[in-house]
Amino acid sequence: MTLREVLQDAARKGYAVGAFNANNLEYVQGIVDAAEAEAAPVIVQASPGAIAYMGLAYIAAVGQVAARANVPVVIHLDHGLDIAVVERCLREGFTSVMYDGSALGFEENVAVTARVVALARSAGASAEGELGRVPAADREWTAAELERLMTDPEQAAEFVARTGVDALAVAVGSVHRMRRQAQQIDVERVSRLRRATGVPLVLHGSSGVTDDSLVAAVKAGVAKVNIATALNLAFTGALSQAVRSHPDEIDPRKLLGPAREAVARAAAAKMRLLGCSGRAGGRAGGVAG
Ligand code: G3H
Ligand code: ZN
Repeated sequence: MTLREVLQDAARKGYAVGAFNANNLEYVQGIVDAAEAEAAPVIVQASPGAIAYMGLAYIAAVGQVAARANVPVVIHLDHGLDIAVVERCLREGFTSVMYDGSALGFEENVAVTARVVALARSAGASAEGELGRVPAADREWTAAELERLMTDPEQAAEFVARTGVDALAVAVGSVHRMRRQAQQIDVERVSRLRRATGVPLVLHGSSGVTDDSLVAAVKAGVAKVNIATALNLAFTGALSQAVRSHPDEIDPRKLLGPAREAVARAAAAKMRLLGCSGRAGGRAGGVAG
């Protein structure tokens, strides 16, 4: 499935699809297990760092297997920073790519993103762009600082019209890589961005956003919610626990199995919160959308 197909249904019906970052086979399995258990459409995404770690051919092959699940699965490049990586992902069968030009000036971001959209279209895939800046939790950010980085609705409308992106990542108060849920989203800005652009919006840095604020952001127009850190906490927490409880265990399956289950539990909890559970339609045994 492409991003466009999955997000159109979400935007129309007012729920969001979870986009989960995978770092190894166990993550992909845990994420897809959760989607099947929840009868939810799902986006499995790989960052350039994860691609460098796993190897593009491996992650693409695992993605092809994941796509045979009985729920809609999108295989997506997260935070693509150069065209060569985008092209390689499209050649390997990714159904969606993100180009993150948020560090560029507006005109250059428009120009490169428009090229990425054209490449995605010719491969039958979808494209996500980004405008505004979602910073990383390498330090504390004041509310005033975050506000200065936020996406301007008028500029966003121009960006979408000139690039043709299928979905737009926006800066609305979230911060990447937060280990606890403390951020509030500027929900009013989400509504204005949704009205101004007409495309489904993407929230990055969602692990650090409070549950209430996530739900409100979805209501206001966010249709794709990116989650990485919450899964990393679940995976490494369960793995460390397994190693501590069984210090003599050398069978990696006994240690990685609980970590995979922890990923599945964490992903399933987010799916329920985002309202995508039970939205897989006919592909998951007739669960109504
Ligand atoms: O692109 C990935 C996300 O924005 C994940 O952010 O690690 O804060 O959940 P997070
Ligand atoms: Zn992100």
